[in-house]
Amino acid sequence: MSMEFKNLLFEKRGPIVILTFNRPQALNALNEETLRDLLHACRQIREDREIRAVVLTGAGGKAFVAGADIKAMGEMAPLDALRFARLGHRAFAMLEKLDPVVIAAVDGYALGGGCELVLCCDLILATPESKFGQPEVNLGIIPGFGGTQRLGRLIGRNRAKDLIFTGRQIAAQEAYEYGLVQKIVSKEELMKEALQWAEQILSKGPIAIELSKKAINNGMETDLHTGCELERNAFATVFATEDRKEGVQAFLEKRKPHFKGR
Ligand code: CAA
Repeated sequence: MSMEFKNLLFEKRGPIVILTFNRPQALNALNEETLRDLLHACRQIREDREIRAVVLTGAGGKAFVAGADIKAMGEMAPLDALRFARLGHRAFAMLEKLDPVVIAAVDGYALGGGCELVLCCDLILATPESKFGQPEVNLGIIPGFGGTQRLGRLIGRNRAKDLIFTGRQIAAQEAYEYGLVQKIVSKEELMKEALQWAEQILSKGPIAIELSKKAINNGMETDLHTGCELERNAFATVFATEDRKEGVQAFLEKRKPHFKGR
C-alpha cells in the first residue's frame, strides 16, 4: 500500500513502512508542510497495529534531509520561529515515541534538522559518502528541533558542543566512531540492508521489542534507579504474554519460535 503526502512518500510493505522525504529540489529540507506530513504519517503508523518497523530515507540520492528549510526561515519573526520549532519538536517526539522500530537509512546530507531527525531514530545506517552535522551557527542560529538536547545525550556533551559550536560536517565514519551511526553500507546495499535489519527484528517477540524500546528510551530520561524500576515492570509484563511461553517452549523443543504479539 502506498500513500502520498505532499513531501513524504509512505509505502507499506506488510509490517514495514518506508517513509521517504521527497523534496529533492531542496535536498529534502523540512518546511512546515513536510513536518505536517511527518505528523500525519506518524499518526497513521500509530493507528495501524500491523506496522512493526519504519525505515526513513531521502529521495534524490544526494541528501537524507539537509535541515530545516532555510528559505522558509528567512521570513520568520521570533514567534513564527517558536511555532516552527514547536511543530518540529511535536513531529520528532511523535516519531521517537512510535512503538515500531525506526531505522534511518541515510545516503548523503543529514544536516541540521536532518541530523536531529536521525537522533529520533532507533538505529542508523549510512553510506560512506553521508555527512552529518549541526551547521546552524553558520546561519547565526542554533539547532531548533532537539539537537542541543538529543545530540549530547547520544554522543556525549563535549562532542555535541564541538559539532554545534563549529558547525562542521562529519563523514559517516566519524559518525560511526561517535556511535551516531551503527552500520556503514554501500549506496547499492543501503535499502536492502535496512529492510533486512528490520526483518531480523521482526522475527523476534514483538512485545519484547516494544517494551525494551520503551524501557531504553524512558530510562535514558531518568535516573538509574527509576530506569531499573521501569525495566523490572516491563520484565514482569512480558511474563504475562503468550510469546514468552512460546519463546521458552521453542527453545526447549529446539525449534524456531512463532511469535504472535500477544
Ligand atoms: N533549506 C532550503 N533549501 C536548501 C537547504 C535547506 N536546508 N539545503 C539545500 N537547499 C537547496 C539549495 O538552496 C539549492 O536550491 P536552489 O537550486 O534553488 O538554489 C538546492 O537545495 C541544492 O543545494 P546546493 O546547490 O546548495 O547543493 P550543494 O551540493 O552545493 O551543497 C549542502 C549541499 C552543503 C547541503 C548545502 O546545500 C547546504 O549547506 N545546505 C544547508 C545546510 C544547513 O545549513 N542546514 C541547517 C538548516 S537550519 C536547521 O536545520 C535549524 C534547525 O535545527 C531546526
